[in-house]
Amino acid sequence: TKTYLTGIQTSGMPHLGNYIGAIQPALAAADSNETLYFLADYHSLNTVKDPAKLREDIRSVAATWLACGLDPQRTVLYRQSSIPEVFELATILASVTAKGMMNRAHAYKAARDRNEAAGSTELDAGVNMGLFNYPILMAADILVMEADVVPVGRDQVQHIEYTADIAGAFNHLYGDTYSFPIPEGSYPEGQGSVLPGVDGRKMSKSYDNHIPLFMPENKLKKLIRRIPTDSTPVEDPKDPDTSVPFQLLTHFAEPERTDAVRKRLEAGGMGWGELKNELFEVLNARFGGMRARYDDLMAPGSELDDVLAAGAVRARERARATLAKVRRAVGID
Ligand code: TYM
Repeated sequence: TKTYLTGIQTSGMPHLGNYIGAIQPALAAADSNETLYFLADYHSLNTVKDPAKLREDIRSVAATWLACGLDPQRTVLYRQSSIPEVFELATILASVTAKGMMNRAHAYKAARDRNEAAGSTELDAGVNMGLFNYPILMAADILVMEADVVPVGRDQVQHIEYTADIAGAFNHLYGDTYSFPIPEGSYPEGQGSVLPGVDGRKMSKSYDNHIPLFMPENKLKKLIRRIPTDSTPVEDPKDPDTSVPFQLLTHFAEPERTDAVRKRLEAGGMGWGELKNELFEVLNARFGGMRARYDDLMAPGSELDDVLAAGAVRARERARATLAKVRRAVGID
């Protein structure tokens, strides 16, 4: 068995992209592997500045894991913030991480590119050190648990490569005494494995184009109805592969159902409205039961807090053991 680990930022209710990219594959791995899944609450502090919202978002991500089927007996579910060793390890890892590599990190570069495009002379405007250090903290999340496999969406490829690089740099220096296992990413297969949002870009909270997993039914219906489509008349042939509702459908409907819809769109006679109804039905059927469970878990007094407390104890034991070895290796013991 291998050790699987993944995290989700606590910056709002998880969305369909999080489900396809991480939650579903991570839960599938839980039957036959050791699994540790956590809430990246300190990571989200870079963007969530409202304490009440952050508290709510933390519960929301925990409730989502459980509602989607995580079994807390089998999988250790915990908050990053419960594990101080993560932050200690991040400091140690910073000492073996080249700044030049961090300068090339996608999220940081994207922020600078946006400033440049806007004609700003200060390319780092609006960038906090949390964003700059993000990849090191993420490496600490993974390495502190000695994870082998990290199930994530393809938008995280660079972060996983950085983690492997940082672990390699540490091992090169201290490998006689202690070596981290070099983790690998596990990504959903195939084309379109990065789910599009309602505007066709990658589904992301920061683009405000996402479909939250457990949106109330009437809101979900409205949101799907508002997905932009062109004005091809109902009877004309349409290209399913450039249609956002169709892309989403392929991820959540049975393959036979998707094929039937594809044929009808290509032949003409199926309108975008009907396609959207189809998508709504499929999503509502898939997530309706989980939504009810989610709502129960979000109610005050649910088992949520106990699950996280128990997970923190188990996760911390593991993190302590790693840190003892790491400290000894570097000479701070
Ligand atoms: P986050 O919180 O942005 O997203 C959580 C997971 O969802 C995946 N994902 C997607 N997959 C497919 N299509 C999409 N449109 C889509 N949007 C998001 C992400 O790839 C991710 O797997 N850096 C991480 C959080 C993190 C982490 C870690 C993950 C912190 N430490 C350690 C693994 C291990 C992030 O921002 O994910």
